[in-house]
Amino acid sequence: MLDIGTGAGSVLIPALEKAGVHGLGIGVDINFGWFKHALLEIQKRSLRNTALAQMDATNLGFMNGLFDRVLCGFVGWNYCFDFVRQEFTSLDTMLAEISQVLRAGGRVGISSWAKQEDLDWLGEQFRMYLPAYVADQKMGSASTVYSKENAKGLERILREGGFQDIEIATETAEFVSTDEEEWWCQVWGAGWQEHIDRVARTDANKFKQFKKQVFDNLQIYRRSDGIHSRKTVLFAFGKKKSLGGLLSNN
Ligand SMILES: C[S@@+](CC[C@H](N)C(=O)[O-])C[C@H]1O[C@@H](n2cnc3c(N)ncnc32)[C@H](O)[C@@H]1O
Repeated sequence: MLDIGTGAGSVLIPALEKAGVHGLGIGVDINFGWFKHALLEIQKRSLRNTALAQMDATNLGFMNGLFDRVLCGFVGWNYCFDFVRQEFTSLDTMLAEISQVLRAGGRVGISSWAKQEDLDWLGEQFRMYLPAYVADQKMGSASTVYSKENAKGLERILREGGFQDIEIATETAEFVSTDEEEWWCQVWGAGWQEHIDRVARTDANKFKQFKKQVFDNLQIYRRSDGIHSRKTVLFAFGKKKSLGGLLSNN
């Protein structure tokens, strides 16, 4: 199994545990900064069936057909696909590479953030601080600021990438952050980084005010054990055509 964009290993590690001693999983990431967190978890759980490598997903250094499964958690297809217009803006080099290193009949699993309904107010707050940015056609409405990807787009990406038996699913879970600062870090890492950093770059005082307002608005989600939030993840799965299918297409 290959995990693309491993980061701190939140997809790789459960997949390795599921694979057991007879499965092997390799994690790759363009940026090795988070590998130390993945390594700590790997050591803590005494997992031996793995390796990590710094690699660009659009230029993987593996032989063709090496993997049965490729996972790709929250890496994103915005670089080549406009999810508002539902069209490619450039060549999809990442899925092409994934397809290359998958064996015929192998499966790819992609995850992405879906719209997070209980964060509409945050989208609205961005609209107040960054009106031109939110109004930008590419950004869509305030409610899509944080979830550029959607099921229809992922389905099209897989289909045009030559995958079949495509399945799209969603899963919603409730999360509890111990306090506002922890919630802030989690939201930053869950797709809002680009937008939050943009407010931070505008002016230090404005940013302070923005963050205070966010923390005030958060109070309605506070319970005795912390801040509660619901997040929905979008999954897209596809199968690379089997050898018979590939030959009949050529
Ligand atoms: C949001 S993190 C997700 C990490 C992990 N997969 C997870 O689900 O928690 C996205 C990761 O993809 C990596 N990434 C982005 N573009 C990449 C590329 N072209 N090749 C490899 N890794 C990439 C980033 O460095 C980052 O670690």
